[in-house]
Amino acid sequence: MTKRVRKAVLPVAGLGTRIQPAAKVTPKNLLNVFDRPILAHVVAEGRAAGIEHFIFIVGRGQGAIEDYFDHAVELESGLAAKGRTEILKDVHSDLMNPGQMSFVRQMAPLGLGHAVWCARDLIGDEPFAVMLPDMLMDAAPGALAQAIAAHEAVGGNIVVVEPAPAGEAHKYGIVDLGETAPGFDGRLKAMTGMVEKPAPGTEPSNLFISGRYVLQPGVMEELGSHTRGAGGEIQLTDAMLRLMAREPFHALDYVGTTYDCGDTMGLLRANVAFALKDPACGPAARAALEVLLAV
Ligand code: G1P
Repeated sequence: MTKRVRKAVLPVAGLGTRIQPAAKVTPKNLLNVFDRPILAHVVAEGRAAGIEHFIFIVGRGQGAIEDYFDHAVELESGLAAKGRTEILKDVHSDLMNPGQMSFVRQMAPLGLGHAVWCARDLIGDEPFAVMLPDMLMDAAPGALAQAIAAHEAVGGNIVVVEPAPAGEAHKYGIVDLGETAPGFDGRLKAMTGMVEKPAPGTEPSNLFISGRYVLQPGVMEELGSHTRGAGGEIQLTDAMLRLMAREPFHALDYVGTTYDCGDTMGLLRANVAFALKDPACGPAARAALEVLLAV
């Protein structure tokens, strides 16, 4: 039987180079998608998948993330005094329970692998999830829930993947695949390799690692070697490849739509898509967009 996945690591320390100056004073993952910060959508996806503890890997100047998931006493008492119960309920829905979130300072921007390694003492000896919060993954059930279902079926390590846009595979981690696992509509396949930021034309497939993982704690030992990879950074993909020598990995081509919110156009697309699918505001959003598009 597989151990339950209870903890998620969310690396949020990146400076948001592709989305400046929007993320100059607001941490990039607190930028808005329709009705709440990107990070609130991602945490909701984690909770729906059964995550009980969120470990944020943060950098300097990101205290607003802690504040977002804690009480805002003046706001809440003001809303209560005015009888704005619907808004208050919505504000409360994003609160963490006491003890449910931890913050670890990465101290130095040495790469995604280094960020995940910073959580090693909090992870201990359990399988855990990694959620890349730039990647907003719109799916039902959520992308992490799909990955955890795959983990419950085949154990080991699960990496969520999806087809890369034409000509863009070299920007990502790319997987190499073997046999198809039973179930999951043929979307779950054993992995035989992976490479971070392959040179154009050398990609082993067109499936890229898109932002959700279920990993065994052994990956922390591999990350501990601090081996540098693509871009001179400590890469999670390289540590996973080394772990693959002794543990199984499967790639799940998940069902859903990914928005890269670390990029201005991705953030715009996510905002429009989330507004359109909102049951209350969707029709008004569509009407407003039609007016704009008619010009
Ligand atoms: C990271 C990972 C890469 C993955 C990508 C998804 O790269 O290293 O494997 O495909 O996220 O966004 P980064 O975007 O940090 O360069």
